[in-house]
Amino acid sequence: MLQIHQNVSLKNFNTFGIDANARYFVEIDHAGDLVELFMDPQWKTTGRLVLGGGSNLLLTRDFDGLVIRMNIRGIEHRINHNEVFVEAGAGEVWNEFVQYCVKWQFAGVENLSLIPGSVGASPIQNIGAYGVELKDVFDSCEAFEIATGTFKTFSKADCHFAYRESIFKQLPGQYIIVRVKFKLSLIPDINTRYGAIAQELTNRGITAPTIKDISDVVSHIRVSKLPDPSTIGNAGSFFKNPVISSEEFETVKTNFPEVVHYPAGDGLVKLAAGWLIEQCGWKGKIIGHTGTWKNQALVLVNHGGATGQEIFDLSAAIIDSVQAKFGVTLQREVNIL
Ligand code: FAD
Ligand code: EPU
Repeated sequence: MLQIHQNVSLKNFNTFGIDANARYFVEIDHAGDLVELFMDPQWKTTGRLVLGGGSNLLLTRDFDGLVIRMNIRGIEHRINHNEVFVEAGAGEVWNEFVQYCVKWQFAGVENLSLIPGSVGASPIQNIGAYGVELKDVFDSCEAFEIATGTFKTFSKADCHFAYRESIFKQLPGQYIIVRVKFKLSLIPDINTRYGAIAQELTNRGITAPTIKDISDVVSHIRVSKLPDPSTIGNAGSFFKNPVISSEEFETVKTNFPEVVHYPAGDGLVKLAAGWLIEQCGWKGKIIGHTGTWKNQALVLVNHGGATGQEIFDLSAAIIDSVQAKFGVTLQREVNIL
């Protein structure tokens, strides 16, 4: 029998550490719990928020609906020659899943070490870091379709993955991911293209890195740059890196020749949002209970006691100043409630 709790504090369920309440709250331990939940028509019409680790979420108010916290566990693998298919429940902690793969020497996810959050949320924004995106290792996922009360399998093509994008972001609230299947390899394709990885391997005197070395190095770089949510509330990058046309880029470059940028395919150019924000003077600035991180201006932080609205207001001020200085519109990466 599912337990629906009432008036639950979400403070320990979001990495910004925002103290907001949910009117109703339920933990989902098995896929079948979702079938049971939605047999009660009340929950089809009540506002819903699906929650994994709460590490890409800003709560700006209490939630007058049902929080569905995904807790489905379990990891299984099947080896087929040099390929490995690993399936994990939506409620598995992402980095514990990565460490499982590293321990078994299943290659492919090591560059995604130490990203906070759950396996079930990983396809939502096609998580990415250090030269790898989820789509590179994704095989398929199983999701509960709320409208029909049935389970549906999504292939990679179905998911429409792009930079911090997927079908699940485009159709919010329709599907709940219960399980993700990854296609990994027993033959590592070591990816050191991200400059900081190569540099750290050199510092450590490692010339033939294993996937464990890559996982360790990526974790080390992340800890040096990003605030630990257990001590300083944050949700990682608050904005996406803007992707602009080559014409727009020429205008920015004429005025700011040193602008940090990367080719983004199809003649598009990706700008480093952290650089744009730093150039506007925001890096490390403290505003009330909020601010931007001293080592990474793209990360907005809760220095303690901030409300979600304060953090949202800071993000709006940053968008305005980047727009005024560079003519570039930042888009929030973090999901806002
Ligand atoms: P939540 O915050 O709980 O949810 C995020 C969104 O997904 C919400 O809209 C929610 O409704 C939805 N959702 C969650 N679970 C499900 C499900 N099972 N089915 C359907 N919808 C669901 N992200 C990166 O891509 N790369 C990084 O390098 C990175 N670094 C980070 C560093 C720090 C310090 C922090 C705090 C965050 C970072 N992030 C990064 C963002 C975050 O870790 C990812 O977005 C992660 O996938 C969020 O997982 P979560 O379980 O916490 O999702
Ligand atoms: N930069 C600055 N000032 C800053 C921050 C960055 O000038 O304060 C410039 C530097 O030149 C740096 C460049 O921006 O070389 C890129 O910075 P970094 O390597 O830290 O990466 P990022 O583009 O800021 C992205 C992802 C991160 C991911 C890292 C590593 C987005 C929105 N963010 O950050 O993902 O971990 O690359 O791959 O794409 C997240 O999504 O939450 C997240 C942390």
